[in-house]
Amino acid sequence: MTQTAPSYVLGSSEQEIARLDGQAASIEAATRLLLRAAGIGPGMRVLDLGTGLGHVAGLVAELVGPGGQVVGLDTSARLLDVARERARDRPQVTFVEGDVRSWRDAEPFDVVVGRLILFHLHDAGAALRHQRTALRPGGLMLVLDFDLGSSRADPPVPLVTQALGWVDAAFRSAGANPTIGTRLAPLLAGAGLVDVQTFGVQGYLAPDDPRGPALLGGVVRAVAPQIMALGLATAEQIGIETLAERIDAATRATGSVVLPPALAGAWGRRAL
Ligand SMILES: C[S@@+](CC[C@H](N)C(=O)[O-])C[C@H]1O[C@@H](n2cnc3c(N)ncnc32)[C@H](O)[C@@H]1O
Repeated sequence: MTQTAPSYVLGSSEQEIARLDGQAASIEAATRLLLRAAGIGPGMRVLDLGTGLGHVAGLVAELVGPGGQVVGLDTSARLLDVARERARDRPQVTFVEGDVRSWRDAEPFDVVVGRLILFHLHDAGAALRHQRTALRPGGLMLVLDFDLGSSRADPPVPLVTQALGWVDAAFRSAGANPTIGTRLAPLLAGAGLVDVQTFGVQGYLAPDDPRGPALLGGVVRAVAPQIMALGLATAEQIGIETLAERIDAATRATGSVVLPPALAGAWGRRAL
């Protein structure tokens, strides 16, 4: 498949920045767990692929400490400006504008990490093969991504099932793979990484926890233009201004637990 530019479906508006912050908060604990499990530690030089607002770069900076180095890479100048502003007290973190499919640094990295980036790439394997060469021999590659297929309400809530279906279709129509979390280990192995390990982390939000409805309502809002363009639902049927509220009322009424998508992680090493 050719490396055509991905149509990054989520944009970089103020509303999208707020949504990315909410999403990052919801997976911060899972991300910390996976970063530690993979073995990121003091003094390492780390590249963060598709860094966005720098959430992962910030968590990695805590692990590598002042003696380490973190470079956040993204195509969005707008998001990078916000990331730089937020990281001004962390001299070990820098941000670079560039494409993960082609960008190359002169110095090798100990670790290449990427959260919620493979999801957006038409050819994730090619990007991983390219980034494997950014590692020193023995260096670590860690990728984290969602498995939207694991998301549901239990007992089922028709509105949740419907909204998840819209989101899945909208992402797929834009060339993104919302269940790529299931494929991370084979992708790493296919890109030549060795000793590959993987597991996923999933939340179980209580029926009265507003975070589940807010997360789902937020992502539907972000992809509503695609949902309508695909003819899956009209603006009236989506009812975006009240969607989170209606999901919240429905989960409370049925006592349903909301399972947001599992965050899968997989890591492997560049052969010595
Ligand atoms: C969903 S956000 C994830 C941000 C961050 N990694 C996180 O987990 O919070 C995806 C990011 O990937 C960036 N992106 C998409 N395609 C890219 C590419 N080909 N090269 C570099 N960045 C890319 C977008 O600009 C966006 O900031």
